[in-house]
Amino acid sequence: MTVEFLLLGPEEAARLEEPLMAMWLRAFAGPPYAVTERDLPRVRALFRRHCRTPGFRMVAAMAGGKPVGFAYGFPRSPGEPWTEEVAASLSPAVRERWLAGAFGFVEFAVDPAYQGLGVGSALHDRLLATAREDRAVLTVHARAPAADFYAKRGWQRLGWLKGVPYRILGKELKKG
Ligand SMILES: CC(C)(COP(=O)(O)OP(=O)(O)OC[C@H]1O[C@@H](n2cnc3c(N)ncnc32)[C@H](O)[C@@H]1OP(=O)(O)O)[C@@H](O)C(=O)NCCC(=O)NCCS
Repeated sequence: MTVEFLLLGPEEAARLEEPLMAMWLRAFAGPPYAVTERDLPRVRALFRRHCRTPGFRMVAAMAGGKPVGFAYGFPRSPGEPWTEEVAASLSPAVRERWLAGAFGFVEFAVDPAYQGLGVGSALHDRLLATAREDRAVLTVHARAPAADFYAKRGWQRLGWLKGVPYRILGKELKKG
């Protein structure tokens, strides 16, 4: 099946909420996330909040008219809970260099039926290509299979979130 990649703003992404939620549950069903239907209200609220964040954009992988993968992000701002949590976990020098004015690579998933085909790599590259910032940041569970994916694509470890097994990663975005 042909996969098409679309760059979407918040309204367009919000229109895909139902199929995206269904796919999100399938993609994060395995360890270490073990997301189930019971997590749906939390995941939905998170997605809606993210869609309202200034600068939100999504790259969606579409097949047969349905999303089979997505990556979204937005510039990280001081005062956001995530930014404050990460800031409190980094040394002042690392925080200043990496967090101030960074693009947030926020959520990323591919339907298990489409994994291992290069869809995730394309989503990753296309979303980062939209960033005007010099650096991107994300957090990832220490036992997530995606940890290798990020390491191979130039993400470096900046530190750990305090009190939870999440790595803070950063990537230089070379413009050229
Ligand atoms: C991470 C994820 C988005 C990658 O998507 P994908 O479409 O499978 O990625 P690709 O086909 O482009 O594969 C890229 C690489 O990752 C590897 N890979 C993909 N899925 C993997 C998995 N589950 N475990 C280990 N390696 C995996 C591929 O072998 C490939 O290796 P390469 O870099 O040597 O070529 C997808 O596995 C996923 O949705 N995982 C569950 C949700 C998740 O963890 N999201 C990220 C949260 S931070």
